[in-house]
Order: sequence, then C-alpha cells, then structure tokens
Amino acid sequence: MPDTRIIRIEGVKGNLTDRDLAAIEEAGRIIREGGLVAFPTETVYGLGGDAFNPRSSSRIYAAKGRPSDNPLIVHIADVADLHRVALSIPDVAYELADRFWPGPLTMIFRKQEDLPRETTGGLDTVAVRLPSDPVARALIRASGGFVAAPSANLSGRPSPTSIRYVMEDLDGRVDAVIDGGDSLIGLESSILDLTSDVPMILRPGAVTKEDFLTVLKEVALDRTIYDDQSPEAPKAPGMKYRHYAPRGELTIVHGEPDRVVSYINERTGGTNEITGVIATDETGSRYHADVVKNIGSRNDEYGIAQNLYRILREMDDEGVDRIYSEDLGGSGIAQATMNRLLKAAGHKEVTV
Ligand code: TXA
Ligand code: MG
Repeated sequence: MPDTRIIRIEGVKGNLTDRDLAAIEEAGRIIREGGLVAFPTETVYGLGGDAFNPRSSSRIYAAKGRPSDNPLIVHIADVADLHRVALSIPDVAYELADRFWPGPLTMIFRKQEDLPRETTGGLDTVAVRLPSDPVARALIRASGGFVAAPSANLSGRPSPTSIRYVMEDLDGRVDAVIDGGDSLIGLESSILDLTSDVPMILRPGAVTKEDFLTVLKEVALDRTIYDDQSPEAPKAPGMKYRHYAPRGELTIVHGEPDRVVSYINERTGGTNEITGVIATDETGSRYHADVVKNIGSRNDEYGIAQNLYRILREMDDEGVDRIYSEDLGGSGIAQATMNRLLKAAGHKEVTV
C-alpha cells in the first residue's frame, strides 16, 4: 500500500500560487508514471489515473473496490482534445461544449480505437468531461491531457465532497490527494448520451433538462432514473448499483409538511435504535429524533445539493440506524438531489 501524500492548495478562488503549480506538476508526473491521484472538481472529488494506460484504469477499479464493467469518465482540459478519445462527434456536441464546458456535463460518444477498454469498462463508447475547477484542469494538463476518474469514494459510499471523506475512503490506496476545499456543486455531473438518435440524459445533475433544451430540439430521459420498477437496465452501468448508500436504513417521506413532521416524530420516539432526520431549515426544530440534520433552506436548492453527501456520511459517523428524510425534490438541480436521495434510500419511500 502506498503512503498517501496530501497536497494542499494555497491559492483561493482559482488563483493558484507558484507552489500550487509546482505541486500539481508533481502530481501530474505521478499520473504519467502510472500512479493514482485524487483531486478536486467542481462536482465531487475524482480518483484520477492516465486514461491511456490500462494498468492505471485497473488500479482505479482496485482502489475503489469497483466492478470493472462500470466505465470511467475521461477528463480533458481542452475541447480540442475531444477527438483524441471520441469518434463520430456530432456538431451538436460542440454546441453543447460551447454552452456547458468547462463544467458539470459529461457527454458519451463512440470511443477512439486506441483508448483502452479497461478505461471504458469494455464498452465501445466513452464518457468525456471538461471540468471547470482550475486545479482539476491544471492537473489534467500536467498528466498529459487525459485523466480517467470516477468519484473518489469506495464503491457504494456517497461521493466525497471534501478531502476528509476522500481520506476516509482512500488513505493508503492512492499515491496522493489534492485538497482543494469543499466541492462547489456537491453532486456528480449530468451525463448526456449522444450515441442515441435523440440525446438521452442518463444521470441528472447541475445541467438540467431545461438547460439542454436551450441547445437541443429534443432530449430524452433514461426512465430508470426515477422509476425503480422499470424492467430496463440503466444505460449508465454505474446507475444500477445501490450507490450513495448510508449504512442506516433510509426512508423518504412525502407529503404536506405538518403531516411529514408528525409521521417522522411518531417513528423516532421511544425506540432503542438511533434515529436520524434529514430536515430543512424551515422544519428542523420540530423534530425529536436523536440526530437531526438541517440540509439547508427550501429556498436554496443549490445549498441542499451541496450538503447532501456530507449529511449522509455524518449519519453514518453518528451511528444512526434509521434515517427519515423529507422530500427534497423541486425544479432545477433539486431533481438531481432527489435522484441521489432515492438511490440512497433504495427507493424506500412513503406518502403521508
Ligand atoms: O462529476 C462527475 O462526473 C465525477 C467527477 C469526478 O468528474 N465523476 C463521476 O464518475 O461521477 P463515476 O465513475 O462515479 O460515475 C460515472 C458514471 C457511472 O454511472 C458510469 O457507469 C457512467 O458514468 N458511464 C461512464 N462511461 C459510460 C459510457 N460509456 N456509457 C454509459 N455510462 C457511462
Ligand atoms: Mg461514483
């Protein structure tokens, strides 16, 4: 097991210092030589290796404990590099890139022949993202331009949104981690498949269906995203796993706020289990469970998205056996929040 080196970024708001750049250069060398480096992006932390080195991709799967049929996202730093990993790129991809890159969008294309199948989980297609985080982009360039990176968590745990959780999961399993502070968005990128006739959203994220419709005439939604009864398998292989799961059993409670509060209070009193509630600022003080976490205000869907994974992990840290969450759905990024919450709950939900 390697000793994991921690690299702290000194520059704030993307103004990297000379020391930062030197440290990132060094981290890039580690990746070019076949090592693994966890790094910040604006969505969640990534676990990076050289996308063109099949041994690096195999090491990523091993470090995460991830099934090797679950493909990795290839991160680039310049749109001009897209054709090095993707084939038959439609014009609309460049329009989407113009509008949403750098940023929280992953697009799926047919893959270039020489990109190893270890990186694409055996598929003929490749997922590509150009992140906006300046540390991520500097690292990608220093690594030779193509960094394969899943989220930097152990398989089955929530994606990490700060270095603390990266270390909890990957200390001793990667060569270095770069600490760039808390993730700005807190949920993984939107995934859009451009290999089907009508572009299809495979994973909702900060770039929403409404955003896509400003560029595309039509966009489809993989129906397995909100519907666990669908007989189809999700088109993004990773979406089939019960991901993002806390250890405690999680139930989502839908309904009018007063009824939700009473329903949850009835079930969190007088039990030997440690109980927890994911509440909002508006309701938090009304709950009596052992652990009550306010995820943010209902008026701030970005704040709620940013806090979700941290709160799921805190429920575990505090040993909570049974967790109830309010419905966190709504428009915009709240749809992505609700998708992750449903997955964390294994679709266990009640309406009161
Ligand atoms: O925001 C993000 O996308 C983060 C940061 C680090 O960039 N990365 C991330 O990677 O969330 P990961 O590996 O945790 O999730 C990638 C998802 C998985 O569900 C995987 O199955 C899907 O993308 N995927 C990757 N390549 C694919 C492909 N060729 N076709 C369909 N789905 C693909
Ligand atoms: Mg992941």
